[in-house]
Amino acid sequence: MLILGIETSCDETAAAVVRAESAGLYFDHDAELLPERDASLCHDRFTVLSNVIASQIDVHKVFGGVVPEIASRHHLKAINGVIDEAFKLAGIDKREINAVAVTKGPGLVGAILIGLATAKAIAYALKKPLLGVHHIRGHICAALIEHPELEPPFLALAVSGGHTSLIEVRGLTGKPGDMTILGSTRDDAVGEAYDKVARVLGLGYPGGPKIDTLAKEGDPGAAAFKRVMLEEGSLDFSFSGLKTGVLNYVNSKKQAGQSAYEADVAAGFQEAVIDVLSAKAKAALEITGYKTLALVGGVAANSALRARLKKDTEESGTKLYIPSPVYCTDNAAMIACAGYYQFACGVGDASGAEDSLALDAYATLPL
Ligand code: KG4
Ligand code: ZN
Repeated sequence: MLILGIETSCDETAAAVVRAESAGLYFDHDAELLPERDASLCHDRFTVLSNVIASQIDVHKVFGGVVPEIASRHHLKAINGVIDEAFKLAGIDKREINAVAVTKGPGLVGAILIGLATAKAIAYALKKPLLGVHHIRGHICAALIEHPELEPPFLALAVSGGHTSLIEVRGLTGKPGDMTILGSTRDDAVGEAYDKVARVLGLGYPGGPKIDTLAKEGDPGAAAFKRVMLEEGSLDFSFSGLKTGVLNYVNSKKQAGQSAYEADVAAGFQEAVIDVLSAKAKAALEITGYKTLALVGGVAANSALRARLKKDTEESGTKLYIPSPVYCTDNAAMIACAGYYQFACGVGDASGAEDSLALDAYATLPL
């Protein structure tokens, strides 16, 4: 099956062509819908034939963050060229695809609408099924691109600019109920905290990669910040206090006329974030009894977080799956993969697997 994926939920205009080879093994907690499982079959396999990403970073960095209206206009300008490029690089003709998968939410509604309207037009013109994908389900499916052996049930830690959640993944069908959120941020998402702290330090947007690099030169002990764990047993997160802590620290340094504290702040902030993520992931693994963890989303590209979870999981005998950085941050290959599972498992608001052309864009969307 060849799937065109389209992603425009934030500041990347992305299109990808993915070949999915079905092993007839659809992950589903609903046994009735499962085809007979044949032990001789290997797992479904994805081959990313093209993965085109047009970033709007340069457009938004002058504002210190994403401006939704500007994002929509740039998606509109870029989308057709990005899709043409994805077909060209994949070396296939548009008519060869079997389905069009597109992010339907959550994210910036005006931005999502551009991808959604384009996907509908292509699906309608080529008479192919339209598959609306939940962005976070896409991030989770990104872990399977390079690791087809990753099989539910597993725990996913999804960390991005809009989300910070621990998710129990029992299936990948796209059906309500195959994933459960065990804990989420009560205020800022981790990526948002990275971006805000970077702004306070004058590092520019997006801050995540800049803090990742700068922290390597700093002493995390020099500027220690509070680790907010919330109530005993809670798997929720809170990062807004940490952001305020950093702001106060930086202001006090400025008032004292001190300089060259940025690397220490980056290192101290990052270590505080990672301590919390590591502790909560450990607790969630204990609660679920799962021995498999997938780290996904833009912040999963962070080198220190990757290293810490690798160490943690080696110690506890847990298998860890992290996509390559290009599949951690927003991309359309992950959307095509999530769309594949939905198609294979018959999810959609029209009859059967596909969505209807009335499919909407959503700013918020339950998993
Ligand atoms: O998944 P993503 O591309 O978009 C959303 O769905 O939000 O995540 C973007 C977020 C941004 O906040 C960005 O600063 C952060 O991921 N990020 C990183 C790194 N690379 C991207 N954060 C920390 N370290 C990184 N290396
Ligand atoms: Zn994302």
